[in-house]
Amino acid sequence: MKLTKILAVVLVAAMAVLGFAACVADDGNASGANLENKLVMATNAYFQPYEYYEGDKIVGIDAEIAAAIAGKLGMELEIKDMQFDSILTAVETGSVDFGMAGMTVTEKRLESVNFTSSYATGVQSIIVKEGSPITTVEDLYAEGAAYKVGVQLGTTGDIYSTDDFGSDNVVQYSNGNEAVMALQGGAVDCVIIDNQPAKALVEANEGLVILDTSYADEEYAICVAKENTELLEKLNNAIDELIADGTVDNIIAKYIK
Ligand code: ARG
Repeated sequence: MKLTKILAVVLVAAMAVLGFAACVADDGNASGANLENKLVMATNAYFQPYEYYEGDKIVGIDAEIAAAIAGKLGMELEIKDMQFDSILTAVETGSVDFGMAGMTVTEKRLESVNFTSSYATGVQSIIVKEGSPITTVEDLYAEGAAYKVGVQLGTTGDIYSTDDFGSDNVVQYSNGNEAVMALQGGAVDCVIIDNQPAKALVEANEGLVILDTSYADEEYAICVAKENTELLEKLNNAIDELIADGTVDNIIAKYIK
């Protein structure tokens, strides 16, 4: 091989490496969830009406708002379904671009990720069997009560009730439906979960009621890796526009009557 040819090969190789590096640096996320014109969202799709399966398609408020955001940014949306308590890590490590899962903004979560502005509110509700001795939130705190509370692992329902009633009295399930099955079967005395999913679960299952008094009020937002401030800004701009033009309200109204 002639020297010039070798040089050319080396140059091309160097450019390829540099080009790739530039690409990775550019999207501010080490493992490159977003190397193409694609936004990868992490969710847990057992949370009607925010995200749930219709056939093999994930639909719901979050899925539709995310699609509208991607549309605004001229990007394609891919949704990855995973355990709720894996979402934060997926976002932090960059295996996805953002997490959207009816996720509540909390101080603790803000230590590891950033949140966009809020696009919806949530309430933690309590589901019991009809005729349950638990009729208000206060009953859970009564002297010597020791009721067993069913929750979805890693949710605010889990975190708050573990704080309030101790881990011995809280049973963690992989999703709300499993928690409700446990309530039906008598393994737990109540389920603490966000109010809209609670309504969907009570509608789908006989003999359950939601208490009138709620357990906590919350704000839902999208989480993004700390270093990905560029995406955070883009998402915030898109959310602001979609709130201002009524898109977010329309999507929510379609699912919550
Ligand atoms: N709002 C609660 C939280 O952030 C529950 C969210 C559960 N979401 C889901 N897609 N399973 O902890």
